[in-house]
Amino acid sequence: MPIVTSKEMFEKAYKGGYAIGAFNVNNMEIIQGITEAAIEQRAPLILQVSKGARSYAKHVYLMKLIEAAVEDAEQSAGFALPICVHLDHGDSFEICKSCIDGGFTSVMIDASSKSFEDNIALTKQVVQYAHDHGVVVEAELGTLAGVEDEVNVSAEDSSYTRAEDVQEFVERTGCDSLAIAIGTSHGAYKFKPGTDPKLRFDILEDVSRRLPGFPIVLHGSSSVPQEFVQKINANGGNMPGAIGIPEEQLRKAAEMAVCKINIDSDLRLAMTACIREYFNAHPDHFDPRQYLKPARVAIKDMVAHKLINVLGCNGKA
Ligand code: G3H
Ligand code: 13P
Ligand code: ZN
Repeated sequence: MPIVTSKEMFEKAYKGGYAIGAFNVNNMEIIQGITEAAIEQRAPLILQVSKGARSYAKHVYLMKLIEAAVEDAEQSAGFALPICVHLDHGDSFEICKSCIDGGFTSVMIDASSKSFEDNIALTKQVVQYAHDHGVVVEAELGTLAGVEDEVNVSAEDSSYTRAEDVQEFVERTGCDSLAIAIGTSHGAYKFKPGTDPKLRFDILEDVSRRLPGFPIVLHGSSSVPQEFVQKINANGGNMPGAIGIPEEQLRKAAEMAVCKINIDSDLRLAMTACIREYFNAHPDHFDPRQYLKPARVAIKDMVAHKLINVLGCNGKA
């Protein structure tokens, strides 16, 4: 199977009451760990690449590595794993065009920090170019708090999606999926210690009532498992007060209209905890293969856990 768009994945996910995992990729070990888990679990997959990932690894390296993963899946597992390659948080027409021209099957245009009319205008421009090239578009309404690339949105500047805006936005832009803000945020510090993390399911319900059958996306959906934070801190790290979204709330969202759930920070935590522990146990080791091998397994295990326990998309490919 070639690299696919998310269209069919979302249709099946919506009807089936599960969500597709969208995991951020930056290098070979991350791509291998994620795809190995998806193959083993027979889960459809979205590999997403941020602007930062493109400048770290270069578009062509990531694209070739993903193509290698698709080929390897067919050869070693004997079946075609559907993989969608997505631009995460594209902030201009130019970056979206570059990713479309460079083989991605899905792009996000994130104009959520602009005015409603400017968000519509830019999203529409990207949709036109993308659809002419067989590529799908994710847009965003409402702003999440947290850090992505060099952009840092404070909790005070974040805002929930206004459900009354979504129908007009989708109709006027022609976007294929919509990311909404219901209380998730980027990074490992999503809530103040001592607060009770609660997503706004009332907004999600209202949005899905106004957009029946339309795929909704949740960003900032890492759960920041405390065992990994503790492992990092026990091995020379310093991440006090790191807190994420409770997994059962994400599972509930996946059963509703949410068809794509973005997870990056939890993979970073898994990899970092593993490498920190490795170096503590083996201070004399210096061959990167020695510590990247278990780190790749840590990514695989984290992704398998998400596919089964959070997204419910295992066995759907
Ligand atoms: O939403 C942000 C993702 O976690 C990607 O992070 O922009 O640092 O690559 P990045
Ligand atoms: P996390 O930081 O919660 O993993 O969110 C990732 C994300 O939304 C990527 O777009
Ligand atoms: Zn995001």
